[in-house]
Amino acid sequence: MLGISLFAVMGTLLFYIYFMAKSYPRQELSAVFALSFFVYNFDNDTMSAPYMLAPMAELSHRPLRELIETFSGPGLSGCSEYFTEMISAGAFIAGGPFESWYADNGPCPRKIVYQIVGSDPSHLARAASLLDQNECLGIDINMGCSAPAIARTGAGVRWMADIGKAGEMIALARKGVKRRLSVKLRLSTGYALPEGEDEFVYLVRFCRRLEEAGVELITLHPRTGREKFHRTARWDYVSALRKELRIPVAGNGDIADAAGFLARASSGVCDAVMVGRAAVKQPWIFAQARQMEAAGLGAAPLGTGESVAQSGEVFTKMNINIEETGLLFLDLLAKYQPPEFHLSRAQRFFGYFCDNLKWGNYVKTLLNRETELSGIGRAWSGYFREGEE
Ligand SMILES: Cc1cc2nc3c(=O)[nH]c(=O)nc-3n(C[C@H](O)[C@H](O)[C@H](O)COP(=O)(O)O)c2cc1C
Repeated sequence: MLGISLFAVMGTLLFYIYFMAKSYPRQELSAVFALSFFVYNFDNDTMSAPYMLAPMAELSHRPLRELIETFSGPGLSGCSEYFTEMISAGAFIAGGPFESWYADNGPCPRKIVYQIVGSDPSHLARAASLLDQNECLGIDINMGCSAPAIARTGAGVRWMADIGKAGEMIALARKGVKRRLSVKLRLSTGYALPEGEDEFVYLVRFCRRLEEAGVELITLHPRTGREKFHRTARWDYVSALRKELRIPVAGNGDIADAAGFLARASSGVCDAVMVGRAAVKQPWIFAQARQMEAAGLGAAPLGTGESVAQSGEVFTKMNINIEETGLLFLDLLAKYQPPEFHLSRAQRFFGYFCDNLKWGNYVKTLLNRETELSGIGRAWSGYFREGEE
């Protein structure tokens, strides 16, 4: 009896904390928020802000997740959340031939966040509710992709052009999603704002509408749709946006290494940190940053306006065998992706991973000439036999 009462009291207390933290501005409730955020969803072994792998087309798939997990050790979870590459809502509900590969939630289903993309609200809502039935952490809606093939159809960053439409779509999707519903977006489309207002004022209005419609986390990649990767990510917008919303805000953009990752995570400017391209080049980045964090080697927290390069040198050692890591990736690719995807995925991965090598561009050219995975493996190992010099 006592046990049941204690359980009820604890449950009520936790629910109260969770509710309060989501209902009041964090400035007024930071202590409560900190506890509730821990309860909210992220890993228990998280030390600073949770670490997230960015959704990246042809890159954020099971083989990369498997590879990243091989660097995690006991007590070192590394990556807290794995966003999948964007999944086309229309193709998914139509049951396209490759959809089961996109829906693969291995090797750690509870860390998976399925990202969906599309322009039709009913397709997005249906795909979200179907994916929500899989074991996963949540569903993310892509409002940031500015690739012409996507934006032209009204999907990705084009959602940011119409606050009302985006809000209605989210409200519809919300009805079928029991797990966490999140949105990844940019500062703006980069084109004239419909209301002719200031970019940040518009961004806040947009995000508040999403929040009202049931979004529980926003990831901001602080560039406009037109900028693509041309300009440095403006992290001061991440911290400014976070102050305006009740829900957590994750920051993403231009993190280059574990020191930079840790500096952003411990800076207090965001609730979670997401890394994309650097995690393909250095799949050990999550484990390395955690290792540095555990050893108290954290870089001085960055001010929001500083660039990662200013964070200073942080010494850390991990024994990484680049050749073996590349070969392991090829094995994982063969094991967990359909043959139709092998070449494109391998070339995408090595497009970043080769940057670890002195003659990386030369190796990329060699690998891009190959027409089979086995040829890529031979060319890759051949480079190491020749010696780097
Ligand atoms: C090859 C590639 C594919 C991407 N695909 C997606 C995607 O499917 N969905 C998405 O929201 N963002 C996508 N992005 C953007 C990334 O998620 C991320 O916002 C961007 O790369 C900035 O982070 P970074 O500087 O850490 O790489 C992609 C980026 C790259 C380089």
